[in-house]
Amino acid sequence: SALKDKIKRLLKEKNAVMVSHYYVHPDLQDLAEDTGGLVSDSLEMARFGRDHSAQTLVVSGVKFMGETSKILSPHKTVLMPDLDATCSLDLGCPISEFNAFCDAHPDRTVVVYANTSAAVKARADWLVTSSCALDIVKALKDKGQKILWAPDKHLGGYIQRETGADMVFWEGACIVHDEFKAFELEALIKEHPQAKVLVHPESPKEVVALAHAVGSTSAILKAAQTLDAETFIVATDNGMLHKLRTLNPGKTFIEAPTAGNSATCKSCAHCPWMAMNGLAGVARVLEHGLNEVHVEARYLDRARLPIDRMLAFTA
Ligand code: MLT
Repeated sequence: SALKDKIKRLLKEKNAVMVSHYYVHPDLQDLAEDTGGLVSDSLEMARFGRDHSAQTLVVSGVKFMGETSKILSPHKTVLMPDLDATCSLDLGCPISEFNAFCDAHPDRTVVVYANTSAAVKARADWLVTSSCALDIVKALKDKGQKILWAPDKHLGGYIQRETGADMVFWEGACIVHDEFKAFELEALIKEHPQAKVLVHPESPKEVVALAHAVGSTSAILKAAQTLDAETFIVATDNGMLHKLRTLNPGKTFIEAPTAGNSATCKSCAHCPWMAMNGLAGVARVLEHGLNEVHVEARYLDRARLPIDRMLAFTA
């Protein structure tokens, strides 16, 4: 399309590269890959942006992803199609309350999810994403450390059940994953008894309990390629279905049901903030240098520390 051609031209002119999340519109995923950029999860987005030689990163995703890129590459220009695209986990963990929570548990190692503000990261010992959280908490437990976990209570609970680590939790949830319902999922499983169920651990534990594979978006992609099944039921943001379907053309992927919707719902599990990203926005910000991501100077260096630890751990 003309818009895609325009973006391709602007990327070259501005020495820019696109970094897109699996949950954004398929156009933004495909264009990133077609132009030498990346579509992936938040961990690999951060690493790719840090290591790429382009001077400008165009991050399609939500605010914390742009901020993480900026923290890792303070001398690069980071642009986002829409700066109002945020995250319920980030919004649900304001720094003043988080500071008080940390102050109340001075003996605990502070482990926070990537889906947080720069200020919260700057208070953390470790950053994790859903793809490395389990391994990092396991390693900390093996060193005898007690954990303060924030903000996703479902992911935290899953990790505690898997590792037996001593953890206290912040009460946060992702508005998309929190809506998956076990009762409706069980009914769908009965309709598709051969199907394998792939669940993101930000989902409630009753939903996780029905899974054949539990994991991050990259783990879900891997499970779809390796598990022996033709049909999969997928409990994560439905932006994920694009990559699942293009990488597995012979297989069928069905969306897991959410509250108040029937099993035939085609678009209910989609993050409204991820949906704010589009081709027109990418073209506009590239052309005019708009929507630059800034991180407050007082958080920049301190917030890089837990991110660097995570990147070194997963290197
Ligand atoms: C992320 O880390 O990008 C999100 O948690 C989604 C995922 O990859 O599981």
